Amino acid sequence: MSAVPISHDAAALNVEMLRRDFPILSRRVHDRPLVYLDSAASSQKPRQVIDAISRYYEYSHANIHRGVYVLSEEATIAYEHAHESVARFIHADWDEVIFTKNTTEALNLVAYAWGLQHLHAGDEVVLTQLEHHSNIVPWQQMARRTGAVVHYIRIDAQGRLDLEHADALIGPRTKMVSVAHVSNVLGTINPVAILGQMAHAQGALLCVDGAQSIPHMAVDVRALDCDFFAFSGHKMLGPTGIGGLYGKRQVLEQMEPFLYGGDMISEVTFAGASWQDLPWKFEAGTPPIAEGVGLAAAVAYLEALGMPAVLAHAQHLTRYALEQMHQAPDIAVYGPEAEARGGVISFNITDLHPHDIASVLDHCGVAIRAGHHCAMPLMQVLGVNGTCRASFYVYNTVGEIDVLMEAIGEARRLRRR
Ligand SMILES: Cc1ncc(COP(=O)(O)O)c(C=O)c1O
Repeated sequence: MSAVPISHDAAALNVEMLRRDFPILSRRVHDRPLVYLDSAASSQKPRQVIDAISRYYEYSHANIHRGVYVLSEEATIAYEHAHESVARFIHADWDEVIFTKNTTEALNLVAYAWGLQHLHAGDEVVLTQLEHHSNIVPWQQMARRTGAVVHYIRIDAQGRLDLEHADALIGPRTKMVSVAHVSNVLGTINPVAILGQMAHAQGALLCVDGAQSIPHMAVDVRALDCDFFAFSGHKMLGPTGIGGLYGKRQVLEQMEPFLYGGDMISEVTFAGASWQDLPWKFEAGTPPIAEGVGLAAAVAYLEALGMPAVLAHAQHLTRYALEQMHQAPDIAVYGPEAEARGGVISFNITDLHPHDIASVLDHCGVAIRAGHHCAMPLMQVLGVNGTCRASFYVYNTVGEIDVLMEAIGEARRLRRR
């Protein structure tokens, strides 16, 4: 296994060196070097993660928790170690970390397992205008079933949450406040700890959608004092097929399971069943074992880089890209200034459709995303059908942003056709 390039300086990742860990970055696309600017959708994977998964399959694979033989014991240890790694990464206890398929499943787990049990007619769930569909639709569905009502905290012109509106919305009927830590469209870093204080003062819980924060910043669920924290492995250098949900122990213990079946039971009779301890009560069936091994390797990689350095790098790139974009009168950028955002920039170019721009960029080797980014209600607030979105991660360089800007120049030629 190759060593992870260690960074001690928050301002300086050794990007040229760490790029060598990502085999895909040496690919060419349309005969141009790949410039991957879509990490908010899914990050690329370092060799360390790919190797950990291969090694697991080549050497240790068996089902967990069921065998008394060596392979099963090794697989069980590896999978439990993955819980420990993630828990350490977010300052939780290992059994407060439930592995799910992704953020979407983690948020559905909260909405179904907690929501169906605790929401009643007239109760209120408070979300924000900048949520991803996966933190809107499950709550809308639970509201339909229970008679609860969903409210949305407004954003201001810079894409920041209006905290006065939040204060007005979060009241005695509020049972749950569920918010994105970082917006996947605007990049806004939301003051989730403050929202948590508002929620707790009213006896409500705080659920944080951490899909876009955990890849970029140090997360401390105890300091945030959140009741739930949902995330995806594939956005933080890990494999697809695994994500997680942190929940406070006393909250998780009171909840009924979400999925029922093998592995999550303590005892089954013809009359009924009882449940396993945490976290297994919420992990029914054969879990994503290899994916857990890969996620643990991703966490180790990020820990070695140091999360302050990871965040500083994304913000450095964002600042540089925003400077370039602000100089172009035909580019509209959405969201706050670099200091208040993660490594995401949504933009539009006058008279050009986001999909046409993304397609020209693809021909220049530049991968960005175009569309509504699973945030259609936010598009309504912004008054657009969609945007282009460039997102940056540890392996991106200032030079790649120059390539992005050159490719945007190419896209402008579409106007003349
Ligand atoms: C803020 C946010 N929440 C939730 C999700 C859903 O993540 P997944 O598709 O991995 O479930 C995403 C994905 O882009 C996201 O950006």
